Amino acid sequence: MAFKIGLLGLGTVGTGTVQILADPAQRHPLVQELELYRVGVRTLDKPRSVELPATCLTTDLASIVTDPSVDIVVEVLGGLEPARTLILQAIAHGKHVVTANKAVIARYGEEIFTAAAQSGVYVLLEAAVGGGIPVIEPLKQSLCGNRIQAIIGIVNGTTNYILTRMQREGGDFSEILADAQQLGYAEADPSADVDGLDAADKIAILASLGFGGRIKLSDVYCEGIRQVSAADITYAEKFGFVIKLLAIARREPLPLGIDLEQLQIRVHPTLIPHPHPLANVNDVYNAILIEGDPVGQVMFYGRGAGAGPTASAVVADVLNIAALLQVGRSGLTHTDGTPLLDPLLACS
Ligand code: NDP
Ligand code: HSE
Repeated sequence: MAFKIGLLGLGTVGTGTVQILADPAQRHPLVQELELYRVGVRTLDKPRSVELPATCLTTDLASIVTDPSVDIVVEVLGGLEPARTLILQAIAHGKHVVTANKAVIARYGEEIFTAAAQSGVYVLLEAAVGGGIPVIEPLKQSLCGNRIQAIIGIVNGTTNYILTRMQREGGDFSEILADAQQLGYAEADPSADVDGLDAADKIAILASLGFGGRIKLSDVYCEGIRQVSAADITYAEKFGFVIKLLAIARREPLPLGIDLEQLQIRVHPTLIPHPHPLANVNDVYNAILIEGDPVGQVMFYGRGAGAGPTASAVVADVLNIAALLQVGRSGLTHTDGTPLLDPLLACS
């Protein structure tokens, strides 16, 4: 019996997701076990670059998340509402959820993961930070034996694309931003990118995972790239620096010899000396440098936005859930008979 997917959103990321699932070259054995069952959009008669049966598309998104046949809901709508409400409804109806929505997770992660734990369902969010870069699951799993000291990254593809092109060509900010929108990198409201808010959402999520607390957005100092001028970039270059929008979360000792630490979490344009690995991360690429004890420095690098890379992360989450569900269906259980599923409690 196939796992039925309810997809909420058929824009940049939703379309990329459908393309991977429909690709005949896709070799993951579980892809054959997935059925794209229903797709929720805002406008039915919009031209689409993927073909779907007309009966699959609906504007009634609540009917998808409450449909008893749907196993996994993939939320790639963007925005806070109706995304948050639909995710919570899906969880309440026993659906597993995959989301790329960092804005919702950064604000309502605690509510969502508490609800997921109560319903015994998975909520996975690999696409929410770093586009196609695997960073959420590695931070939760492969690095969990470390005391994380710092997370420093370029986590917004749009602003890195803008800064890179300003540095190379000295081009016009708004023209370059329009190109980033055309390429599918920017948020529906690109001021979220340009003003650093998207990067703040992402570092709040990474810091919650890495430092094991609930980081509120009000804890994150945030400054975007609107004030960065072509002259700033030229002068930085002259002195051997590049300007990058960095998201930084680190443990800092308190001043005056007090034997306690505080978390510093901030997003702002930063001068980086040329030899530093983050100075050479260009275009839509993102990189996240994690420093842990005892592992030392680990760096994650790849395309941080766009249809293909982001859909890669979304589909990976869907397949991971399908694999776990298959274990449940094949009858592997705990000794008390409950399915062999451990709710993944991110951001807890
Ligand atoms: P788009 O704006 O391209 O697509 C949004 C889709 O959701 C559209 O299909 C739209 O319908 C549908 N939609 C939006 N609001 C509603 C609503 N109220 N009711 C019904 N349908 C609705 O967004 P993206 O694909 O770029 O982004 C989706 C999510 O993924 C966001 O949370 C974003 O932050 C995240 N993300 C995006 C990345 C990227 O590179 N673009 C990278 C990583 C994460 P219609 O088509 O009818 O207009
Ligand atoms: N608008 C976001 C960016 C999408 O440019 O990084 C990926 O999260």
